[in-house]
Formats: sequence, structure tokens, C-alpha cells
Amino acid sequence: MKIVVLTGSPHKTGTSNTLVNEFIRGAEENGHTIKRFDTPFLSIHPCIGCDHCGMNGPCVFDDDMPKILDTILESDMIVFATPIYYFVFSAQIKSAIDRFYSRNGQIQRKHLKSAFLATAWNHDEQVMSGIKKHIDILIDYLNLDNQGMILAKGYGYPGASTENKYKEEAYNLGRSL
Ligand SMILES: Cc1cc2nc3c(=O)[nH]c(=O)nc-3n(C[C@H](O)[C@H](O)[C@H](O)COP(=O)(O)O)c2cc1C
Repeated sequence: MKIVVLTGSPHKTGTSNTLVNEFIRGAEENGHTIKRFDTPFLSIHPCIGCDHCGMNGPCVFDDDMPKILDTILESDMIVFATPIYYFVFSAQIKSAIDRFYSRNGQIQRKHLKSAFLATAWNHDEQVMSGIKKHIDILIDYLNLDNQGMILAKGYGYPGASTENKYKEEAYNLGRSL
């Protein structure tokens, strides 16, 4: 498969990118091809809701997002990886997701396989409940075919005691594809 990975952390060696690296290692070992876009380091203007695209056309912003959208539409699977910021996606990756609007129907018709990786400091039950609900609705709305979710609670910094468990899960998810 061609797999596109969108990451959402400004920490290049942080927790969510650690899981991404393990996921990619497993997927590449299985012969899949990865294209990765680290949204915090790209030029991605937030959607301004002007509707110039009519949900199926060119966006008014000629930044890095058209290239990402072209790659998504050439891929078989999309992977989202984010640190939990106030119980949901980071703003950086959310800005990229909002820009799906200009190719919304095309993305839905692709019926892409998907996976989600998220890391949070806290380990209580509540910490992943908001993003879990959000992801479930996104999967349904974008017509994605969920291959797995790793919602890594209590993984707030590299080297945390939970790290090895989640790294193994991320590697196994990539390897299972
Ligand atoms: C702006 C901001 C908001 C955060 N919100 C939460 C939160 O709601 N719940 C939580 O458990 N951790 C929260 N955290 C902690 C991060 O989710 C956690 O440290 C994560 O491991 C960081 O991932 P990274 O290393 O990939 O950037 C927040 C951190 C920041 C900077």
C-alpha cells in the first residue's frame, strides 16, 4: 500500500513522533511505501470557510496543503498522529484536516484505510474520551476503513514508563498491515 502519514507535534523526537517512527518501521518491513507530512513544519493556512472551493475545487491558499491532498488521493491509507492538546488534536494537524474540505467528496469516495495514534500526559479514563468520539465520527464521515487506534494515555514525555508498551503496539500495527 501507499500510506500517507500526517503528524501533529512540534516535538520532532517527542512521544507521538516516536510512535509514528515505530509504525513506519513495521509498515516498511511489510513492504508498504510511506509519505510523511509533519504539519507543524509545513505551511498550512487554516480554512477560512470562504467556500471558494465549493468542497470540490481549488483552495484560495496556495501553500503546502494541495500537495498533501494530492498525495492523500493517490494513497491507499491515511494515518493521523497527534499529541493530545486539551483533549483533542493539536491545532496544527486540525488545520490540515479542515483543509480536506476542498476535496471532501473525493476523499470519501477513496474509502481509505486509516489509523490513529495519539499521546497524552494523563492516564485517567477521561483523557481520550473526547478524541475517541471525534475519531469515530471522522472515520464514519470520511468513509475510512479503520485499521487501528493507539490512544496512549500516561505517555507524556519520551522515556516515560509506558513508552515501550506503546512503541510495541505502534510497530505491531504497522507490521500487521
Ligand atoms: C497545549 C497543550 C495541551 C495539552 N493538553 C493535554 C490534555 O488535555 N491532556 C493530557 O493528558 N495532556 C495534555 N498535554 C500534554 C501532551 O499531550 C503530552 O505531553 C504529549 O505526550 C505530547 O506529545 P509530543 O511529545 O508528541 O508533542 C498538552 C500539552 C500541551 C503543550
